[in-house]
Amino acid sequence: MNPGEPPRIVVLISGRGSNCQALHRASAEGWLGARIAAVISDRADAAGLSLAAEAGLDTVAIEPKSHPDRDAFEHALSVAIDGFEPRYVALAGFMRVLGPDFVNRYRGRLINIHPSLLPRHRGLATHRRVLEAGESEHGASVHFVTPDLDAGPVIARVRIEVDDNDTPDALADRLLPLEHRLYPATLALLLNHQVELRDDEIHIDNQALQDPLLLDRDLGRDGSLRDDFGTG
Ligand code: GRF
Repeated sequence: MNPGEPPRIVVLISGRGSNCQALHRASAEGWLGARIAAVISDRADAAGLSLAAEAGLDTVAIEPKSHPDRDAFEHALSVAIDGFEPRYVALAGFMRVLGPDFVNRYRGRLINIHPSLLPRHRGLATHRRVLEAGESEHGASVHFVTPDLDAGPVIARVRIEVDDNDTPDALADRLLPLEHRLYPATLALLLNHQVELRDDEIHIDNQALQDPLLLDRDLGRDGSLRDDFGTG
């Protein structure tokens, strides 16, 4: 990386890519603290890939069907990622479980946004499962990716209330705009502070994070931190 050049991030998507667009907006507005070096998709036909290309971003499609097995696919993916020398790799609706070798290669640099209040509701269909469980709150989480699916340490979350007459679609519609604020805010935090993953514990500016940050309480929408963040 040339001196004075902003850090780079690579975004991995599989679908519509609205979180990727939110990251790009934050970068273009100048407060993310990084430039999106590339958007990579495991599906050449992902709508988000065309949108990223239209926005002038570098795009790459790396499809599993072009590789003999998962190892070969993930190797090709990591070669492509590493070519852009990103500081962080952001999964944004990347619908593929990544193997431990891949995940460990990017330990502390690989993050994901998940539509639930982790550790509740790992995996798919989170909006439906929140309603089935009769829960009164829902939300989204940004976490470090570790080899266990959706189980890595959570950096920050956003919460919404669940109403009696909510449906999975209504929850998804209400949550998505908040995801679009949470993801750039969390990435800005990572890029502007010293954030480390030590033995599965998150340290921010050398202080252990006790509880995930909450957007608008501990974490400002531009990635700024409340002074007594994470103390519960
Ligand atoms: C989001 O709900 C995100 O939390 C989940 O997948 C969805 C991706 O949406 N991981 P988009 O492709 O960013 O619009």
